[in-house]
Amino acid sequence: MNNEISIIRPDDWHLHLRDGDMLAAVLPSSAKIYGRAIVMPNLVPPVTTARLAEDYRRRIISFRPEGSHFDPLMTCYLTDTTSADDIHTAYAVKAFHAVKLFPAGATTNSANGVTDIKKVYPVLEAMQEIGMPLSVHGEVTDPEVDIFDREAVFIDRVLDPTRRDFPDLKIVFEHLTSKAGVDYVLAQDKNMVATITPHHLLLTRNDLFKGGMNPYMYCLPVAKTFEDRDAIRKAAVSGDERFFLGTDSAPHFSRAKEKAGAAAGIFNAPTSIGYVTQIFDELGALKKLEGFTSIYGARFYGFSPNGNTITLAKRETPVEMDWQIKVGGDTVKIFKPDTPLFWDLVD
Ligand code: NCD
Ligand code: ZN
Repeated sequence: MNNEISIIRPDDWHLHLRDGDMLAAVLPSSAKIYGRAIVMPNLVPPVTTARLAEDYRRRIISFRPEGSHFDPLMTCYLTDTTSADDIHTAYAVKAFHAVKLFPAGATTNSANGVTDIKKVYPVLEAMQEIGMPLSVHGEVTDPEVDIFDREAVFIDRVLDPTRRDFPDLKIVFEHLTSKAGVDYVLAQDKNMVATITPHHLLLTRNDLFKGGMNPYMYCLPVAKTFEDRDAIRKAAVSGDERFFLGTDSAPHFSRAKEKAGAAAGIFNAPTSIGYVTQIFDELGALKKLEGFTSIYGARFYGFSPNGNTITLAKRETPVEMDWQIKVGGDTVKIFKPDTPLFWDLVD
């Protein structure tokens, strides 16, 4: 049995860092583990231009712990009015590494998102031409569609038609939650990859209701069935380069989670790599871990893997920690599913 493993330092290809005090409080958890992260642009107001992205990047770097080389890779929040020219300009100065599509109203801070994919076709045309990836929150917002079917329906109504119109556009299907999503990615011959989160490797929709309704298991897209989770697990450990880690760590204050209308998003950064390693271990796939966490995503985004390693150990007893961080007088709770955590970083 393997009780310790060293892997190339991982990257997080989907991360919400927020801003201000929250950014300062959550950043060290990611910077300790990951070399780079694709930073989501859903601030209020959103990061919609190269200038805003550069300013945000500077703020992130200013909060980096002493000695950290954590490299935030910025993204652009796509709106109905984003211009193709702006994308070309941003590309020239490498201000963005991806453009993020939030369907309007689909998730936290998505009010300025895209109302109709056809409205952004000129931008997609420009992105296809220069090779800029489109990062997609793949859910329809039609209130008539069952919340557990929103990913599958998005494929039929939006993703597949867009793929047909832009076959050379690179697309990242973010935070896969369904077998339909996995099957769709597998069926594509090029330009289609997907991120997988630690929590979707662990949770099913049962976890939302276990012991009473639990907002700390609530994120979007929402966790689905056992069959869906199995498909996601299988994809993650398959060694198929199209699937790689994006934590979707999305911190919210406890007061925003513990109320009617609880915010969607799970803050998993501190336990993310431990849980991913644990699942790979349980599935007898530790040999495939490094590809998923540290190689395939880098390759897709045009980077070399990080030049150093991290070591993780499997403990005899469950890992103990405070399971929350303080942000001024507020707290943010750390993802703690029913499954005890045994793997963690060796300092
Ligand atoms: C994210 C957030 O809080 O910003 N929430 C979530 O449930 N995942 C937004 C997102 O990625 O959907
Ligand atoms: Zn996200």
